[in-house]
Amino acid sequence: MRLKNIIKKDIEYTLMNLGFNINFNLLVQPSKIIKTGHYQINNLIKISNALKIKPDQLAKMIILNIKNKKRYKKITFSHPGFINIFFNYHWLSKKLEEIFYSCRLGVQHILKKNVVIDYSSPNVAKEMHVGHLRSTIIGDVMARVLEFLGHNVIRSNHIGDWGTQFGMLIAYLEHKRSKKKFDYHSLSLKNLENFYCKAKKKYDSDDVFSKKSKEYVVKLQNGDKYCLAVWKKIVSITMIENQKIYKKLNVTLTLKHTMGESLYNKMLPNIVNDLKNKKIAIKKEGTTIVVLDNFKNRLGKSMGVIIQKKDTGFLYSTTDIACLKYRFETLHADRIIYYTDSRQHQYLMQIWEISRKANYVPKNLLLEHHMFGIMLSKEKQPFKTRDGNAIKLSALLEEASKKAMCLIKEKNPYLSKKKLMSLSDTIGISSIKYSDLSKNRNTNYVFNWDTMLNFEGNTALYIQYAYTRITSMLKKSTIPVSKLNTNIILIEESEINLAIKILEFEEIILIIAQKGYPHVMCKYLYDLASFFSIFYENCSVLFSSAIKITKSRLKLSFLTAKTIKKGLNILGIKTIKKM
Ligand code: ARG
Repeated sequence: MRLKNIIKKDIEYTLMNLGFNINFNLLVQPSKIIKTGHYQINNLIKISNALKIKPDQLAKMIILNIKNKKRYKKITFSHPGFINIFFNYHWLSKKLEEIFYSCRLGVQHILKKNVVIDYSSPNVAKEMHVGHLRSTIIGDVMARVLEFLGHNVIRSNHIGDWGTQFGMLIAYLEHKRSKKKFDYHSLSLKNLENFYCKAKKKYDSDDVFSKKSKEYVVKLQNGDKYCLAVWKKIVSITMIENQKIYKKLNVTLTLKHTMGESLYNKMLPNIVNDLKNKKIAIKKEGTTIVVLDNFKNRLGKSMGVIIQKKDTGFLYSTTDIACLKYRFETLHADRIIYYTDSRQHQYLMQIWEISRKANYVPKNLLLEHHMFGIMLSKEKQPFKTRDGNAIKLSALLEEASKKAMCLIKEKNPYLSKKKLMSLSDTIGISSIKYSDLSKNRNTNYVFNWDTMLNFEGNTALYIQYAYTRITSMLKKSTIPVSKLNTNIILIEESEINLAIKILEFEEIILIIAQKGYPHVMCKYLYDLASFFSIFYENCSVLFSSAIKITKSRLKLSFLTAKTIKKGLNILGIKTIKKM
């Protein structure tokens, strides 16, 4: 249901019929104080000024002539310029009935589009670290939401699997092998990362080694069998390990979504030539650059983006231009969304501008950068280990499970070991995910174990606990869902508030689909669970005064549980049967 939109349309239609020109945006918001209305129009003064009529007079005209009167219980005006709207309870109950048996909870399918979502995108030969968490889980929520709406979602894990570092790694593995210190088959991501650091040191200090590394890069680029085989092995070791993290995180990325930098490698020489031919790129002191007048550096000079180095090597930027072209031409993308942190914002804007200039993508192609801030420690510093290194994502997730285990043991000391383990994983990981997703992605946030592993507040535990309470109450009832054959009757204020909240679900889905803001869903679920708990305190469900009231309240509870479950599912968070 799109309640706001329904009100908006009704009022706009009324004004149109009264002969007014609608060239303004009506601001419909849920009321803060429920007693004064379910919804309110907040910008009546502005509108009445535009229409050259006093606010109270305009309100009166709307109230008298509103279309679809049956939808509303009453509409009132309050000074200086608000219109308060109360929905009719029968109408609300009818709308709830409409969604009762549907698995879509009133969410309509949308005109299908091809949407590419570029997310997670870690680098090969390195373990994923905390910096990859946000891209991975926020991007995944977006993929789930857009799929739920009926879009064709193309998940694109743009892993860093190409570049000069592979020459270095191959050379280092070769060096280890010659010293018989290394068995190819036992290679793991942990020692690969270790090799990476050592190889880098050797590369910087040992000329023979660095020469060898460069030779391997050329060999790899020319498709040398041995180099390709080692490279493939390195990529596969990394991705098998990453896949374990995705599974733990309940993220929908699989190996088939891997579209790393190497995929675009063959396109790069043509891209550079084409940009040169089109006079978009120029050669300056041996390097090929694109100068963009829209982007100025600190000295006010136009900035250049390098697309080919002096030694003819290509760059991250060249790959991203080719990748964008591919996503439009080959994947037929209508919309492309990038999930990387805010530090890459200007860079992406430059890539898009170059691609548009070269006509690789049309000007009206929807390109969006859903950037995000970083995770901070309690001291408000970048979240790092004591020796200043990035914290591994696997270590963070393990710690979450451990902390959750302590919490569960305290609550329920008699749980079997198996159950304890699986519950700890679910709760620990849900808590980390939820605490991240519940923050507005645009800003940095402080990572805090205590607030996230808490039964109170806007946390995963609060929502999951609310869900188990409802389902266990439903289980206690002797009436099965299929026998709930009377209509929902909304009498108490807490019932009406809960009903309206349930009907707002579609609006929340649409906000995420447009802006990529999972925190809106978290806030919604938190409000929904809180409204349920007020309803449950005030209204007896199983022991009400009449069977039809019990049935009605069971239906409301059932719908609440269904909405929480779907909402959590959209966030990639599991519900828990018993706590
Ligand atoms: N691998 C990159 C990094 O770790 C992120 C890639 C983002 N996507 C893109 N198309 N550039 O920073």
